[in-house]
Amino acid sequence: MNREDFPMLSHDIIYFDNGATTLKPQTVIDKTVDYYSNYTANAHRGDYDLSYKVDQEYESTREKVREFINAKEKEEIIFTSGDTESLNMIVRGFFENIIENTDEILITQSEHASNVLPWFRLSNQYGCKINYIPLDDNHYVTLENLKKSITEHTKVIAIAHITNVIGDVRPLKEICEFAHQNNIFVVVDGAQSIPHRKIDVQDLDVDFFTFSAHKMCGPTGVGVLYGKKELLENTEPLNMGGGMNESFDSATEIVLKQLPTRLEAGTPNIAGVIAFGAAIDYLNKIGMDQIEEYESKLRRYFIDKLLMIPHIDLLNIESDSGIIAFNVEGIFSQDVAYYLNKYNVCVRAGNHCAKILKKETGVTNSCRISLYFYNTEDEIDDVVELLKDKEKILKEML
Ligand code: ALA
Repeated sequence: MNREDFPMLSHDIIYFDNGATTLKPQTVIDKTVDYYSNYTANAHRGDYDLSYKVDQEYESTREKVREFINAKEKEEIIFTSGDTESLNMIVRGFFENIIENTDEILITQSEHASNVLPWFRLSNQYGCKINYIPLDDNHYVTLENLKKSITEHTKVIAIAHITNVIGDVRPLKEICEFAHQNNIFVVVDGAQSIPHRKIDVQDLDVDFFTFSAHKMCGPTGVGVLYGKKELLENTEPLNMGGGMNESFDSATEIVLKQLPTRLEAGTPNIAGVIAFGAAIDYLNKIGMDQIEEYESKLRRYFIDKLLMIPHIDLLNIESDSGIIAFNVEGIFSQDVAYYLNKYNVCVRAGNHCAKILKKETGVTNSCRISLYFYNTEDEIDDVVELLKDKEKILKEML
């Protein structure tokens, strides 16, 4: 649906790498160009009309994000450079201050690097322990397995809402309910979920929720850190600098501003934040429920076709998201991607930054197709046709 809105789709490509980044609609591109062409100025610093306009546009995106995820207050929305920075800010700014060496961090082996490495560093620096929730046969998190993994030392559960290779949807609401009964924080990497389904942070009752604009029709270099206000108030800035301080006279006399600017030092990605507002408008116009429903049908269609090809090994037949991970028997995943690329099909291959997932699945590499609402059954038919003929793949892959 809505293919005509995406200039990239006028090129001869089949774009199935939406988990890495999505294409951008014309409205988002126009909004970026408009800022640079018609009202360039810094944000939160100027005393002239142009600068006021920038402030209005920038802050209106914050309100749009608040509404989009149903956060209680605008101050709970912090703009960052992306999901990775958001997660690092939580770990460094919040958990570094409260962690003790007897504490335990609970993650899974299917997390993306951004939700593993910051915790590994915390563990290396402060001696806290990393534990893993065992996954079930489908590589899913179950509430039962999570409950078994909790100890009296568990301080935080840090998981993706939807993982980037298996594409499993975690039962967040139940996890948060159980975690909070046991005084455990819940940090959620929402990068792969928020582009595809409605998110309500109050209903889920997550403590922190992070995501990137570029995976949801927005520009690169913009992310969001949502946190409950009382937690963000106790979060140290990752960066110190202009815009976030009220005054400073000496090293011992620094007064910082209130949320959210306190956590947004320096000139932010103004054009990106403003254009992100256009991306949110765009997604709202289509409707998140419609996006979810369409992608779910598309996935089923794809899976049913792939299941009919004997040399395709599917890693995640049952997942409830638009991510399909597979291998062609006996062929290295990157060779398959290279073969598809000859026909202008874009897929991701390798370990997808989920480098400890192999401990769960026993599979080191895979090809990943990640769908979005502008993909079609015709595109799927074309790719299925290309994958059907193993001899052709072997002949053409190099
Ligand atoms: N996290 C992104 C992906 O899964 C980059 O491709």
